[in-house]
Amino acid sequence: MTKHGFTLFLFLSSVASTTCRDEQDFCESKSCNERDFEQNHFYTNVKTYGEIPLTLSHKLSDALPLDEVDGPVIRTVKGCVFSECQPTPLKEPLTLAAVSQDVLRNILDLNESVIQNEEFVLCVSGGKRFPGSIPLAHRYGGHQFGNWAGQLGDGRAHLLGEYTNRKGERWELQLKGSGKTPYSRSGDGRAVIRSSVREFLCSEAMHFLGVPTSRALSLVVSEEPVWRDQFYNANVIKERGAVVLRLARSWFRIGSLEILTRTGELDVLQTLLDFIIKEYFKSIAMNDPDKYVVFFSRVVNETAHLIALWMSVGFAHGVCNTDNFSLLSVTIDYGPFGFMESYDPNFVPNTSDDEGRYSIGAQANVGLFNLQKLLVALKPLLTSDQLTQCRQTLREYSQTYHQRFHELFKAKLGFLGNQEKDSYVIAFLLKLMEDTGADFTMTFRQLSEVTLSQLQTGSFPPSMWALSDLLSHEYFRDWVQLYLKRLSRMKSDSDAARQHRMQGVNPRYVLRNWMAESAIRKAEKNDFSEVALLQKTLTEPFVEQEEAERAGYSSKPPSWAQQLRVSCSS
Ligand SMILES: *[C@@H]1O[C@H](CO)[C@@H](O)[C@H](O)[C@H]1NC(C)=O
Ligand SMILES: *[C@@H]1O[C@H](CO)[C@@H](O)[C@H](O)[C@H]1NC(C)=O
Ligand SMILES: *[C@@H]1O[C@H](CO)[C@@H](O)[C@H](O)[C@H]1NC(C)=O
Ligand SMILES: *[C@@H]1O[C@H](CO)[C@@H](O)[C@H](O)[C@H]1NC(C)=O
Repeated sequence: MTKHGFTLFLFLSSVASTTCRDEQDFCESKSCNERDFEQNHFYTNVKTYGEIPLTLSHKLSDALPLDEVDGPVIRTVKGCVFSECQPTPLKEPLTLAAVSQDVLRNILDLNESVIQNEEFVLCVSGGKRFPGSIPLAHRYGGHQFGNWAGQLGDGRAHLLGEYTNRKGERWELQLKGSGKTPYSRSGDGRAVIRSSVREFLCSEAMHFLGVPTSRALSLVVSEEPVWRDQFYNANVIKERGAVVLRLARSWFRIGSLEILTRTGELDVLQTLLDFIIKEYFKSIAMNDPDKYVVFFSRVVNETAHLIALWMSVGFAHGVCNTDNFSLLSVTIDYGPFGFMESYDPNFVPNTSDDEGRYSIGAQANVGLFNLQKLLVALKPLLTSDQLTQCRQTLREYSQTYHQRFHELFKAKLGFLGNQEKDSYVIAFLLKLMEDTGADFTMTFRQLSEVTLSQLQTGSFPPSMWALSDLLSHEYFRDWVQLYLKRLSRMKSDSDAARQHRMQGVNPRYVLRNWMAESAIRKAEKNDFSEVALLQKTLTEPFVEQEEAERAGYSSKPPSWAQQLRVSCSS
């Protein structure tokens, strides 16, 4: 504690200039000759050195069983939840390519000038430890593409520790792309710039869309050569390594429990589950004999809510395996995700997922499949009565999902209150969008911007390109009549109030694949300007922004976007 206070003070008093004091402190903690300051190139001129004022705690490693073997020996691990394991530093020079100011300030309580500290770049990329950090790799399993896949685990991620902020929120910090662990299997433990830019941008974008998600503090790119077969077509090319520091309230997944049941480690299962309930489900009483049932019903409910939210913004996760599903029902593990452009329930973001298992329209069902697997994992800890209750909860999943979906889409259309035909009006519009291939995001956005009289006459300005696409449908006028009639029933509503309401839930900007791709192409040449522009834009996705408009972020996707494929290896 005192140490934290001390370094904080030291740091604050040294941001403006590098004093001898700072260098001395740095030199005491790390051998000076080991590191030649001049050789590091950062995003901004490095002005300061010194310990980062962020002290982590390690409740996870204190409370849960650890692997007896140290270090990244790749093997089948037994009897533990974590393996202690150091990140492997990236090859320098390192560039701090992006930082989330919101995470920095409002989650980590850090002053923004900290990014000018050389130590910061090292700490957030695995080159140095945050004070108090004990890096861990988590052991988990999972069902991949419907089948039990055995031991998976953090194959290129390191959990650094936990931070409890001023507001009393507890966050777990994790590096991704930080080197091998016992769970790396045949992987190299690295992540490339491509996939790291996508994760950084999308997790932050999802947060500002109001979707529960992991967050991202920083993106560091390096000169580390990483070999990848982007499209799984045996065309291996050299890319560069990058590390994202990401945060979540918890990184436990359905697969965290599954593996313990599968291997019959029931004592560890119970220890972990009790820990999870105690730490993250604080309203469940530990002495409640039905605590596992209550826990399960929470996860079922929250998962249904999360997937409904994904649908409301047209988000397809892409790899909904049980190991990519958080027990806290936040979006985690951004890989070959995509935002649907033309409305299509069969939209599949992962171009190699030929069967469309994880199409956008399948997500609710896949969620149910994953919850069934969770129940299988909990089964050894349940009485037969409790098991029956849990099965009943599962039966309610679909209703919870549909109800939430319905509410969200009603809000997207500006409806207040309930009317009998609301589901029909929603389904009708989606059908028109499907038939015409109208853009999902912009159809709803433009409906929020259009006036009722424009709708009535069907005369849209050219900027309303998505609505213009719908206009070609023979039943569009019929739908408009239904819609206007529904709106007219809300007596005390005004058109301006409707527009305002709708614009608050229908984003103007989402991270379309072509936008990410354009930013990635520049980032690979060390130009991070478009990453920055996207990051800024997506921080306020509901607000029209001049620069974003100039960049075409709400325009019809450029023609080159149609040929794009998500490069899946990451
Ligand atoms: C960050 O630190 C600098 C230098 O100590 C100080 O001038 C600035 O006001 C601080 N910013 C915030 C938001 O506290
Ligand atoms: C279900 O989850 C939602 C979203 O977090 C929450 O608002 C709601 O209160 C939950 N319902 C129940 C019955 O727990
Ligand atoms: C999702 O899980 C699979 C294993 O099932 C893993 O290989 C993949 O990396 C995960 N996806 C992401 C984006 O992390
Ligand atoms: C995409 O789908 C294919 C086919 O199912 C799968 O093998 C691959 O792992 C998926 N890609 C990712 C990144 O999950």
